[in-house]
Amino acid sequence: MELFPQQASSFAPHVDALYGFLIAVTAFFSLLIGTLVVVFAIKYRRRSPDEIAADVHESGVLEVVWTAIPLGLVLIMFFWGASVYFRITRPPSNAIDVYVTGKQWMWKVQHTDGHREMNELHVPVGQPVRLTMASEDVIHSFFVPAFRFKRDVVPGRFSTAWFEATRPGRYHLFCAEYCGTRHSGMIGWIYAMTPADYQAWLAGGATGETLAAAGAKRFIEQACNTCHAEQAGARGPSLMGLFGKPVRILGGQTVVADEAYIRESITNPQAKLVEGYPPIMPTFQGLISEEGLLQLIAYIKSLSPASAQGAAAPAAAATERKPAKP
Ligand code: CUA
Repeated sequence: MELFPQQASSFAPHVDALYGFLIAVTAFFSLLIGTLVVVFAIKYRRRSPDEIAADVHESGVLEVVWTAIPLGLVLIMFFWGASVYFRITRPPSNAIDVYVTGKQWMWKVQHTDGHREMNELHVPVGQPVRLTMASEDVIHSFFVPAFRFKRDVVPGRFSTAWFEATRPGRYHLFCAEYCGTRHSGMIGWIYAMTPADYQAWLAGGATGETLAAAGAKRFIEQACNTCHAEQAGARGPSLMGLFGKPVRILGGQTVVADEAYIRESITNPQAKLVEGYPPIMPTFQGLISEEGLLQLIAYIKSLSPASAQGAAAPAAAATERKPAKP
């Protein structure tokens, strides 16, 4: 019986080291204080019924010491914890993208090449994987103990996080947020594979179309292309090369066109209007599923050369944009 799950991700050792430090400090002070309570109770017990306690005055040195030592310890915990937190929350730029949707009671996974999985996720070892996660209904939490990876998936927004598996194997995936009757059944497996095995897995299984191509299809279905038409005088701003770039919005502010911004612009278009365009876009809230939103975002990402991985050829997608009926 192991005390901890095995360490199978790049930040597992860091999380465990911090946790070990917290346990050591807690254990040391619990033992010290517990022992002193017992020792002092015996040593300074009342020896005769009429004994009067000696008058004790404060000691400045003692008070400074017992303030400074705990302060130092909690500051170590704070800065150490913050550095681990930043490590966990900042995905490296070479991470591969995987899109996850949680719903009662399953995890649905979409890879950029079009592979789809249910309650399973195949990833290569030694390669950062960035998850963009959404929920169709209530709060879920994507939890892989062996990776020391847990992230809440909250309806109405994206949760992004990353991990890098370091050891090939099969690891438990749990939902760690009570989400209804079958919450305990919302479990699955992460398969961490050697790069060669992963390539073989990618090659197997007919995938049909890439995620970006699926998004391009939805783009036409929802008639987005009637306004976001790549031509002069189009009613909506161009999406070519948009992803990851700053956008000037009404009021003079600038926002970066990341996943969260694009999601908001689809579900609540009036929130941040692009400067120079009228507020004519209708909301698509409720008209597109979370999976569909992720596909659209993969498509819009694919229109930016910088994030070309797993992308549909933008030129091909653009030629598909026939003028749709209004
Ligand atoms: Cu989903 Cu608990």
